Amino acid sequence: MPKTVELIIDGKSHHLPVIEGSENELAIDISDLRDNTGYVTLDVGYKNTGATQSAITFLDGETGILRYRGYAIEDLAEKSSFLEVAYLLVFGELPTKAQLDKFTHDITTHTLVHEDVKKILDGFPSTSHPMGVLASLFCAQTAFYPESLDPNRSTEGVYLSIVRSLAKMPTFAAWAYKNAVGHPVNYPDNKLGYCARFLKMMFALPAEDFEVDEVVADALDKLLILHADHEQNCSTSTVRIVGSSKASIYSSISAGINALWGPLHGGANQEVIVMLENIKKDGGNTDKWIDKAKDKNDPFRLMGFGHRVYKNFDPRAKIIKKAADDVLKKLGVNDPVLDIAKRLEEIALKDPYFVERKLYPNVDFYSGIIYRALGIPVDMFTVMFAMGRMPGWIAQWKELRENKEPIGRPRQIYTGQKLRPFLEISKR
Ligand code: ACO
Repeated sequence: MPKTVELIIDGKSHHLPVIEGSENELAIDISDLRDNTGYVTLDVGYKNTGATQSAITFLDGETGILRYRGYAIEDLAEKSSFLEVAYLLVFGELPTKAQLDKFTHDITTHTLVHEDVKKILDGFPSTSHPMGVLASLFCAQTAFYPESLDPNRSTEGVYLSIVRSLAKMPTFAAWAYKNAVGHPVNYPDNKLGYCARFLKMMFALPAEDFEVDEVVADALDKLLILHADHEQNCSTSTVRIVGSSKASIYSSISAGINALWGPLHGGANQEVIVMLENIKKDGGNTDKWIDKAKDKNDPFRLMGFGHRVYKNFDPRAKIIKKAADDVLKKLGVNDPVLDIAKRLEEIALKDPYFVERKLYPNVDFYSGIIYRALGIPVDMFTVMFAMGRMPGWIAQWKELRENKEPIGRPRQIYTGQKLRPFLEISKR
């Protein structure tokens, strides 16, 4: 007999179905609640609300598990490549060699963006944050590929949009940076791999030779894998809700880029470095800053700490911490803020305030330190995150479309004024 949950309202009993996921996650299906009872649920910040049933990413915040399509993040980070992971997320299975070769080829041959994109870029002042430029350029693809607006696009058409999204993202990202520093843009070099190509577009200068450092390209590839999906977070839910109106893939993902930008989400990696630098400038007294983070009258929070879902450890942070050590060693970089970060972590992990609230370093705590060692400027950290998250956003948008999910439209509990008579301005 299917499991149900009994809900008693005003003495009347209602039986609500229980949904069980493949990893035994349980949910109470309330889809008929309002029709049957007149009640809605209230869950500000969606802390207890499942917005969808998804087969893409599994994460268990209590035990620190993250899997893409059933594969452990630790295995993928060690043995896979970003484009292979992208294929896995988007199409559901690991590719064969032939499938990956074709996918890589398709992406490589779509890296160039329309020359008129430069005109749009020219309109942005150099003070523009690259995330704003990225979101705008990404959305502007709807103008260059108006057929992408068709909500009933063929599978081949959707495939082309997917390939274009992955292919052009690094070009937009590097161009957003070039705009910020006032340098001429570089065109994609299709002889290079995905990350090496991005690094060349980002760092090559017309008057100088540029060789991509393979250590840097490999480290970036690993970081992109770690960021590739994270189920229904703020930006992904944004992509799904925008996509649910049958908006195009480009406009849905552009909305996700904007959602990622905030300091409580993807913007945290930038904030972590700013915080660590401030602590360094202040003399490196980590105890003082830990006290500030605990003080309820002080708005300061330990950036890169805490997570809505992970309440034990963030598996990505573990991998990144080790990668930070490896990359800095390989590149011969000695960054004093890495020591400050490690000290903060050590103190926080023993401090009852952080222990009781289950606050652990999240993915952003160490990623900024690696980005910095790779030569990526602070303003570009969240852009790197967006580049990594692209396959996840695509997979979630595609799944929503294939599941034919209805338009996202939450309810609310109105707490404003009741009906009152309107007085003309002369009588107020
Ligand atoms: N420093 C100090 N205290 C914290 C921190 C922190 N970083 N994070 C949470 N707390 C405290 C809160 O003050 C609150 O304490 P209280 O119960 O005494 O009021 C308690 O821990 C719970 O915090 P909430 O804000 O309610 O937790 P929520 O799940 O809503 O927020 C979030 C999670 C936004 C990640 C939060 O931990 C935070 O602001 N962290 C810093 C920003 C950050 O690193 N964001 C990146 C997240 S990862 C990502 O998006 C990729």
